[in-house]
Amino acid sequence: MPTALRTARPRRYLMCRPAYFDVTYAINPWMNPDKPVDTGLAVAQWQQLHDALVEAGHTVDLIDPVPGLPDMVYAANGATVVDGKVLGARFRNAERAAEGAAYLDWFRDHGFTDTREPSHLNEGEGDILTTRSYLLAGHGFRSSTAGHREAQEYFGRQVISLELTDPRFYHLDTALAVLDGDEIMYNPSAFSADSRATLRRLFPDAILATPDDAAAFGLNALSDGRNVFLSETAQPLAGRLREHGYTPHLINLSELFKGGGSVKCCTLELRPAA
Ligand code: ARG
Repeated sequence: MPTALRTARPRRYLMCRPAYFDVTYAINPWMNPDKPVDTGLAVAQWQQLHDALVEAGHTVDLIDPVPGLPDMVYAANGATVVDGKVLGARFRNAERAAEGAAYLDWFRDHGFTDTREPSHLNEGEGDILTTRSYLLAGHGFRSSTAGHREAQEYFGRQVISLELTDPRFYHLDTALAVLDGDEIMYNPSAFSADSRATLRRLFPDAILATPDDAAAFGLNALSDGRNVFLSETAQPLAGRLREHGYTPHLINLSELFKGGGSVKCCTLELRPAA
């Protein structure tokens, strides 16, 4: 599709400045507590992503970072917000558990009246991605299928559960990105054979990414329907997005790779009531 036919829709995102970002534990294969982290550089890179989103016409809300919660910068994991309703996150790892309440408190303090404290494991939009027709939900490493069902009932939208099998792509948003409506891109090799078949059937026109694209965090991308923000390490995938009429914006988030995340991980979309 030519670029002229792609339309951006202004979005609202929640982000968390990485003032206390560090790698003090390892809960995914990207994290190495022995490798030094430059928190100042992380803040500067995060700011560039923030400013790029604002420049593209989006609204960015900020949640205050909490000392002792170094992964809180990965706001995608803080909740799932669909139709103005907020499903809180419940983390698998004790190190991140307190983030769930911190994010839910933010929503209650900012006018979100329909909120739910989760009964089952779900790591927010890291594992629950919204397309026009479905909620796509990952399991295998973090969120549970019981958490998927809880999302389906709370939001009243059909959930498609997808099994992740490669520990490097432990959250769905490292293996799959929603580009527009029911258009997605994903790395088939990150999923079980059954889930690959499901994705092929539901999304026959998807852009198929390679394991290299995914390892460069290219699928940890954010799209407004026209502009796609993704890691500058994912050049080949950016080229393919251009061929499909999207406008890629390359962002350097090298410091945040050390925690195992990139563009999408740092943003949580606040979808309004219809
Ligand atoms: N260190 C964090 C963790 O392992 C990174 C989270 C990345 N976020 C994401 N939405 N994929 O939980």
